[in-house]
Amino acid sequence: MTGSLFSDINDFITKNPVRMHFPSHKGIGDSSFVSKAYDITELGFSDNLLHPTSSIMDAQKWLSELFSSQATLVSLNGSSAAIAAAAMACVGEGDTVLLGDNSHIACYYAIIHAGATPARFLVSDHVRGACLCEVQKAIEENPGATAAIITCPTYLGCSTDLLEIIELLRKSSVISIVDEAHGGHFHFYDGLPASAMDSGADISINSGYKTLNGPTQSAFLHLGHNSPVGEGEALKWLRTVHTTSPSYPLLLDLLQSMEAMGQVHRTMEECHSHFLEVADFVSSHSMVMLNSQAAALRSGTSYDFFKMPVDFTDLGFYGPKAAKFLEADHSIYAESIGLDYILFAAGLNSRPRDYNMLMNGLGDLASQRGMENDRAVVGFRYAPTLPKSAMGMKKAMKSKYRLLDIEECEGEISSDFLSIYPPGCPIVIPGDVIDIETVNFFITHKENRTGFSNNLVKVVI
Ligand SMILES: Cc1ncc(COP(=O)(O)O)c(C=O)c1O
Repeated sequence: MTGSLFSDINDFITKNPVRMHFPSHKGIGDSSFVSKAYDITELGFSDNLLHPTSSIMDAQKWLSELFSSQATLVSLNGSSAAIAAAAMACVGEGDTVLLGDNSHIACYYAIIHAGATPARFLVSDHVRGACLCEVQKAIEENPGATAAIITCPTYLGCSTDLLEIIELLRKSSVISIVDEAHGGHFHFYDGLPASAMDSGADISINSGYKTLNGPTQSAFLHLGHNSPVGEGEALKWLRTVHTTSPSYPLLLDLLQSMEAMGQVHRTMEECHSHFLEVADFVSSHSMVMLNSQAAALRSGTSYDFFKMPVDFTDLGFYGPKAAKFLEADHSIYAESIGLDYILFAAGLNSRPRDYNMLMNGLGDLASQRGMENDRAVVGFRYAPTLPKSAMGMKKAMKSKYRLLDIEECEGEISSDFLSIYPPGCPIVIPGDVIDIETVNFFITHKENRTGFSNNLVKVVI
């Protein structure tokens, strides 16, 4: 019984929509492996992803050469499992992990699995990401921290000071784990920011489907040439968070998609020039391409041309409404929708027609300037401060709780993560005291229906 899911997805495909969302393959290309014929198990000849000794071991060795890592492991439980494995391999009970407040929730889950404590630091600009001085300050405030998880590139497609940050962490004896879920393609083209492996990271994680052409759920865990963690150790921990029955169709599809990566130079050049055309179009219609603007404003920041985060603050549009308009009138489906911006995600399979239709749609949107004048609440993109922590994350999650409206939460200790999606980075984590500024921040998002999904908040009794 598929209900309406199957027909809804079929209707979507039949529309031939402009897919500016993940996965990056954009629905183009058939995987011959989706056939049930390839859905096998570990049969000796088919090796074992979690204990590789033959063909899968060779494939992972080939991947490590492709990415210039010391070793590369495949995760079929997404970047989430790869980040958890990395954290567990590096830290344990009582260890401190530096973590910018622009980190994905998967990084917090990883720290919970590892039994460590996060030392969160404020990242002043979530478009650009953490800069060297913010990481420096975090190191000074947390002497003895064992590891740092740095999110680079950001969700909106910027990379900042990565080489210098990794160097600083090394000098400070802090292990560098780079959540590079959105930068799997960087190593394959010089005109993109440098990859974490090429920048000397100890460990990095790439998604196989966000900006590479693999299937959803696939990811890579790379170990750098100077990594303090060996391949066997990383694999040991990956096993603890991975399904014990990895899917062969997903694995084969991922490996096949990576075969093309050696020859993507020309396509990358085309994608870059399409990006520049869209960026020009956007700025000539009173909108802003946030990532290329951030890179232009600050040296040390570079941008990913697969990401097109378009800010229409000056047009006064309300994000969700603008996105609905683009979907209904232009069949454009975006990766994510903020208060006053929309993120369009292109990829190697994006076609000239997709970029042209995107410009048509944005032009049409700009001409609707008056659209019921739903002026977005601007200036509320990030939380104003970091909440204070009253107890550890795990203890707070295991505590008895009651449910309150956000309006009633001032002074309460949260038992859960609270965030705005997008970008989905937790603002309150379990154990944090919910202060009045945070309450007001969430009330604003609740009133505007912009991504605050915790209708009722779990607070510790
Ligand atoms: C920056 C970042 N890291 C990690 C993850 C988790 O990746 P996955 O959903 O593949 O487990 C995401 C997911 O969106 C992400 O954006």
